[in-house]
Parts: sequence; C-alpha cells; structure tokens
Amino acid sequence: MGKIKKAWSGRFAGSMEQKAEEYTTSLPFDWRLYPYDIQGSIAYARALVKAGVLTEDERGRIIRGLEEIKKELDDGRLDPDPAYEDIHMYIEGRLIDKIGEVGGKLHTGRSRNEQVTLDLRLYLRAEIEQICNEIRQAQGALLDQAERHLDAVMPGYTHLQRAQPVLWAHHVMAYVEMFGRDAARFQDCVNRINIMPLGSGALSGTTYAIDRVQLAQDLGFPEVSRNSVDAVSDRDFALEFLAGASITIVHLSRLSEEIILWASTEFGFCDVPEAFATGSSLMPQKKNPDVAELARGKAGRIFGDLVGLLTTMKGLPLSYNRDLQEDKEPVFDAVDTLRGTLQVLAPLIRGLRVNAERMRQATQEGFLNATDAADYLVSKGLPFRQAHEVVGKIVRYCLDQDKHLDQLSLEELLHYSPLFDEGFYAYVGLDASLNRRGVIGGTAPKQVREAIQVARAELKKGEGKG
Ligand code: ARG
Repeated sequence: MGKIKKAWSGRFAGSMEQKAEEYTTSLPFDWRLYPYDIQGSIAYARALVKAGVLTEDERGRIIRGLEEIKKELDDGRLDPDPAYEDIHMYIEGRLIDKIGEVGGKLHTGRSRNEQVTLDLRLYLRAEIEQICNEIRQAQGALLDQAERHLDAVMPGYTHLQRAQPVLWAHHVMAYVEMFGRDAARFQDCVNRINIMPLGSGALSGTTYAIDRVQLAQDLGFPEVSRNSVDAVSDRDFALEFLAGASITIVHLSRLSEEIILWASTEFGFCDVPEAFATGSSLMPQKKNPDVAELARGKAGRIFGDLVGLLTTMKGLPLSYNRDLQEDKEPVFDAVDTLRGTLQVLAPLIRGLRVNAERMRQATQEGFLNATDAADYLVSKGLPFRQAHEVVGKIVRYCLDQDKHLDQLSLEELLHYSPLFDEGFYAYVGLDASLNRRGVIGGTAPKQVREAIQVARAELKKGEGKG
C-alpha cells in the first residue's frame, strides 16, 4: 500500500499497480474543478446537517477544512500523487488529513458519479459566462470598425468571384450576427447545464434525507435532475457546449480566413496590426498573419474535442462508466482554445487598418454593376430574363473591347436594346447601386447605419446577462 490509502481499499487485499494508478488517475487534469468541488461540498455539508448526519459543529469543521484546502490549491500547492484517483478523492483525503475522522462523514450518501457531473456543470456555467463576455468584446470590436469605416465600399463575393458592391461595414456586420447566434446558443445550453444532480447517489438515489431542492437553491440551480440513472450518465450538456464551441470557432475561422485574404498583396483591403503579426526567419520583407492562421487552424482541435466525446459516449450502457472521465480533457481544451482565440482576435480586429481606397478600386473591375444594368432594363419594362440576356451580351462585348459597362457610348448600348437612355449611367453608379438595396438586411448605407444601432442596443442588453 502506498502512502495514500484508497477510499475503497477495504475490499482489496493488495495495492494497485503503479502503472494502473497512473493510467486511471484524472488528477493531472481534473484538479481544475477544485473550486467547484469545494463549492459543492460546502453546500452538501449543509444538506447533511438537515438530514441529521452532521452536527452544526461538524459542519463548521468540515467547511473550515475545505476552505483551507481551497487556499492551498489557489496558491498552487497540489500534491500530484496519482494515488489520489481524482480531485474528489484528493480533497476528501486532504480534508481527513486536516480535520481527522469527521472529514470522512462528508461523503455520506454521496457518490463521485454525481459529484463529478455537478462539478462539470458548475465549471461550464462559469466559463460560458466568460465566453459570452468575450464574444461581446469581439462583436464590439467589429461594430467599432463598421462605424469607423461606414464609407468603405468593397466588392461582395460569391464563389470568391466579384459579385455586387457592398459596404465593408455590412460585410463585417455579418460576423456580428454569427456571434450573436453563438452567444444565444451558449445561453440556451445553460438551461440544460443548470440541473442539479446531487442526491442521485451512485445511480439509484440516496437513502439519506437530502433536501435536493434546497441544495439546488444553495448552488444556484433552478432545477433538480428527475432521474438518478440519467443524472450520473448524462453528458449531453458537455456535448452541447462542444457543439456550440465548434460552431463559434467555425465563425472565428471564417473571419480569420477573410482577414488573411484581405491582408494579402492581392487584396490589400486591410493591414493586420504589427503587434498581432510575425516576421519570417528567412525573408526580411515578410509580415505574416500568423495569429489569424492559428485561429483558423485551431478550429480542428475543437471539432476533435466534439467528435472525441461523441465517440466516447456512443456505446456506453447506463449508468456511470469510467469512460466518462474522458469528458473533461476535451471540454477543458475547447474552453481554453475558444477563449484564447476570442481574447486574441478581438484586439486584432480592433487594430485592423482598412484601406478603403483599395477596396473602392476593386469595385471598378469585374462588372459589379451588371445586375444593376439588368435592373435598369427591368425598370424600362423588359422582363428580367430578357434583361439578363441582353446585359450578358453587353458584358461579352465589353470584355472584347476591354471596357467597363459605363464606358460604353449610348450608341453602343442602343445596339443591344432600344430601352437605353442617358439615365443609364447614373443608375449603374456605385452609390445608386448601394442605395437601392434599402430592404431590411440590405447593404444601403441607411440600413447599415440602422443595423449597427440595433446591434449596439442588443449588445448593451446582453451585458451583465452572462
Ligand atoms: N474521476 C472520475 C471521473 O472523472 C470520477 C468518478 C469516478 N467514479 C467511480 N466510481 N470510479 O469520471
């Protein structure tokens, strides 16, 4: 027997093989749950008093002991011995070391199977609050940029081919929408996280008179779990979180990809702030957008976290199985990766230098006003299909002549349709093109200004909501 006695050693004649101990311990990663484990134990000690298991005096000693352990761990004093199977056994072991036998009463009627899911729920709830704050920071940075460059017009793309002009602000605001959905998705996930499992025991419910509803209230949970077998087996909330994190990192990755493109010499729409770029060890001229590239690359990790846990779950019989210990590392990794990415991208976005001149130049090539030319003919009474055909032919002619649509003479235009007149040139101009898209959700400057205001108001409403 090693220096640490196992809680379950009574059943065993000998000690555990060291390799097996090292293989099975979760302490190297689940130590991160300690504040939540202690929070849960403090609340549980109160429930034990009510159930007649602990005296008030015993509860006082237990709580003081737990607080001391919290202090030790806050200071980074953790004994990493793998003989402590996990953070739950660690805290219980330390408690008994500190306050003696009475520490052994804390686990009365409680199983680690319910404790571990309680801890993970408390942890995720707190992290999601931070993540939502960080999402709002990114949205704020995008809104500031949109507002600062309301005049910037760029080619909007489909198939990465120039399509129609849009305000740069409008394009950037698309990400504000995505991040808004992400935050809402996380908030919704909290509804399933917010279910208090204690009282489920190992799987069938505790035999002690634990006031579960009071315990839920003490721990800030609006609901208690309704089935003990489900309560110790369920990791849907972790999967939902990972799915939400995967979708969020998809958005961050797409934005990063655009920043990388925009910062290229070929586009030249934006310049990444130097503090968020790197150089080359070989090519002296280089300034590389590594931060955005890594943000794009890290999407793969979070998808891996989701697929990993889905795979762990898929064949598990009810109720608890030790496989479930594999839930923590993907969750921690996704939290760290997502938060790290949000924390670095928000200031990067804020620092982007926008080259509105280059963007406007880019709108001049590629017949971005071809749809407007067709709309012009429609306004003169031509059915859209025919207008499309006529303008298609004119575009071919322009390609041969190396001209823009608005460089054609009225005479040349009249060759394709008698409906053209002098009004055509103003109609297909950039500003007219933008202003006509005044529908809700369109790129007309008036609409975009309004959209920015709506988004700002939503952001304010979200503040303090977690
Ligand atoms: N470390 C375990 C986990 O993370 C805690 C629960 C262990 N329960 C047990 N009966 N072995 O899932």
